[in-house]
Amino acid sequence: MMNQNAFTGITACVFDAYGTLFDVHSAVRRYSNQVKESEGVSALWRTKQLEYTWLRSLMGRYVDFWQVTADALDFSLDTYGISDTHLREDLLQAYMTLSCYSEVPDVLDRLKKKGIRCAILSNGSPHMLSSAVKNSGLSEVFDAVISVDMIGQYKPDPRVYQLAVDQLKVEKSKIAFQSSNAWDAAGANAYGFNVVWVNRFKQKHERLNTSVDIELTDLEKLPELL
Ligand code: LAC
Repeated sequence: MMNQNAFTGITACVFDAYGTLFDVHSAVRRYSNQVKESEGVSALWRTKQLEYTWLRSLMGRYVDFWQVTADALDFSLDTYGISDTHLREDLLQAYMTLSCYSEVPDVLDRLKKKGIRCAILSNGSPHMLSSAVKNSGLSEVFDAVISVDMIGQYKPDPRVYQLAVDQLKVEKSKIAFQSSNAWDAAGANAYGFNVVWVNRFKQKHERLNTSVDIELTDLEKLPELL
């Protein structure tokens, strides 16, 4: 799917973090020899983590993404009957240093060489994001690492996407927003961003009366589209 006309005049790329730049399943994968049904544990951890962001936003009970991530892990471990407290701590700490996807450093480097500003806009807490960025050697690349923690609301609240505009001081029409999370891509489209859906997980389109401008399977081709 291509609507490349939307991508003329883009001066900044704003990236979702988890699932888009950083592999959320890399935490459990590191301990897969100790976690039975590791793929199920990891998938439920992620699903619950996202559900808790939406539920807490709706209930007006914000806690930061580190707390949400720990609560979701506890739900998942409980579901799978895992009560090893050391393993729980190891898995949680691994979330601080998730691996980035292999193409990410080179893609960011190519964007910077084209004079495009790069930023992260994520549900992640500031501490989680700075740790993940540092761990992947990307500290010098980003012009801004923006956390929803600034406003205490989670995606896809439009006020979250507005943060990128305000922090970068770039009009939304000049921003390309990249996310692998279909619901986040939908939220960004509803807000009015030009959206690249990085469909890493071969998902189907959301039925939310939203659209994406460009669909890619990973970030590799992004620099040549801008
Ligand atoms: C984030 C979640 C949506 O990084 O992955 O904001």
